[in-house]
Amino acid sequence: MIKSLHCLSLYVPNLEVGKDFYSCMGLTPHSEKQSYVFRCEGKNQDQLRLIQGKKKEIAWVTWSTNLEGLNRIKDNLRTHQIKPHDPKHESQFCTSSPNDIWLRDPDGTLLQIIVANTAEQIRTAVKLNHPGDVFKRVGIRGAPNRQVDSRPRKLGHILKFTPDVNRLVDFYTTILGMKLSDRIGEKELAFLRCSGDSDHHTLALALSDAVGLHHSSWEMGNLDQMQLCAQRLIDAGYQDCWGVGRHIYGSNYFHYIRDPWGGLCELFWDIDFIGEHSEWTVEVADAHGSSLHENLFQWATSLPPDDFLRNFEKVSHVT
Ligand SMILES: [Fe+2]
Repeated sequence: MIKSLHCLSLYVPNLEVGKDFYSCMGLTPHSEKQSYVFRCEGKNQDQLRLIQGKKKEIAWVTWSTNLEGLNRIKDNLRTHQIKPHDPKHESQFCTSSPNDIWLRDPDGTLLQIIVANTAEQIRTAVKLNHPGDVFKRVGIRGAPNRQVDSRPRKLGHILKFTPDVNRLVDFYTTILGMKLSDRIGEKELAFLRCSGDSDHHTLALALSDAVGLHHSSWEMGNLDQMQLCAQRLIDAGYQDCWGVGRHIYGSNYFHYIRDPWGGLCELFWDIDFIGEHSEWTVEVADAHGSSLHENLFQWATSLPPDDFLRNFEKVSHVT
């Protein structure tokens, strides 16, 4: 039923600090109802909302579906006796339709389900030369300068810490119709995608002793744009974390930068895309010992830092 990851809303302890970070990343902010809302270049859709809070944590996650999907989710809530959430508090910060579904997942993370289409993206072709192939760029210098446009194209996925990966896999597949793409370990990491055509994962779940956001992930137009965006953030004083590299599960190139509160933003390019009718077999990789870290990447310029899977955003509302 869930068709797309629509928007991520976060509480942050300092709105201006958050605005500076995400603006430097290349998102375009505007003020709305006591919050900052951000959009991606060429995409007519709110993708990120920052709300003043005591600490950084997920406020809610907005997923989109169609009307049929919305009704099926409502049926599932009735069948499984899941009570909807009253968005009285959240309505101070966003416009909510009476048709929207608000509910909490088994961790207590708040979800908003809306009927919406994903806004179209403007994509530009990348002109790459391959020796021995037909040259696509002749008599033109290829290396882009740092002024070239390197802003994210869309919010691709989030990775959430949870004390019980399998309880959430069950919830998101059974109640919201998402699909399991791959796993690392039987209970350590799971990658879920939307129903229909979807990136390899729009929601990933990692085992922790508490709920939290590990990273939000932002799609770039090509490898140069990904690295230029990372370079811009590093040059501005934000902390580099890990990259460049290529993941195994999802296959995407990645570069992780720490946000001002120790959490992560991933810049990515070239993720696996799974069609609604693609034949896809779930792989379960080994997570024992060093295998967990080894299965995070196919190659990278360095090993993942020791604190890569540390939960910097432990929250206390586990139900
Ligand atoms: Fe990711």
